[in-house]
Amino acid sequence: MKGIILSGGSGTRLRPLTKMTSKQLLPVYNRPMIYYPLNTLLKAGIKDILIIIAPDHAGNYLNLLGSGKEFGARFTYEIQDEPKGLAEAFIIGESFIDEDDVTMILGDNIFADDFTQEIKSFEKGGRIFAMEVPDPERFGVVEFDGDMQAISIEEKPDNPKSNYAIPGLYIFDNRVVDFAKNVVPSERGEIEITELHQKYLDLGELDVRTFENEWVDAGTFESLHEASILVKNKLDKNMII
Ligand code: TTP
Repeated sequence: MKGIILSGGSGTRLRPLTKMTSKQLLPVYNRPMIYYPLNTLLKAGIKDILIIIAPDHAGNYLNLLGSGKEFGARFTYEIQDEPKGLAEAFIIGESFIDEDDVTMILGDNIFADDFTQEIKSFEKGGRIFAMEVPDPERFGVVEFDGDMQAISIEEKPDNPKSNYAIPGLYIFDNRVVDFAKNVVPSERGEIEITELHQKYLDLGELDVRTFENEWVDAGTFESLHEASILVKNKLDKNMII
């Protein structure tokens, strides 16, 4: 299993903070934001990690994280020239992923849960997660049938069919690289990760697992603040880095 931390984007909602550095390097309680998704991967035993960053502030990532040795891991870096969508990570990461399966986590997603079991037990297809939130329209939304089998997935819908949002942690088998290459950009010009979920759903190979603990997408001032509180109250004592 390889790991990718997708840490590009433009962070416009956090301006002016993101004029001087990348969103995912901003402080969340006592660490740079990217430490939390990195911790999630390292805890699950993933040691070979590709960090995808935007051209601006790329040097700061090297200064902070280096080769990965300090973390008992190996880091590779790639630049995403423009934020063309989450699924582009699998195209940029093609040679890094090589013949392996891959777990991707977003650089601004902070999870209180430990996903070690979910990652280690993965065999085939796609495995994503879902959590009930008050504002599902901000996210990919999954609809379940009475047996909690996923039946539809929509990206940032105006009228969400459920309150279950899909967080930024995705486990896919090696076919994801080819699937990503075939995604047609959406109206907003992005290669949407929802298309990959839909592909695995159509194949009957998408495993959507609900969880109830806390997760914060730290992309707004409000959620950045919440993230610091989550770390202070819960996550800090369980961190391995
Ligand atoms: P977003 O928060 O949706 O986008 P953003 O970071 O550019 O912020 P804003 O909307 O405020 O301008 O992105 C979610 C995460 O995915 C975040 O960690 C950035 C990352 N990302 C990329 O690395 N590349 C991309 O092409 C996109 C769309 C997002």
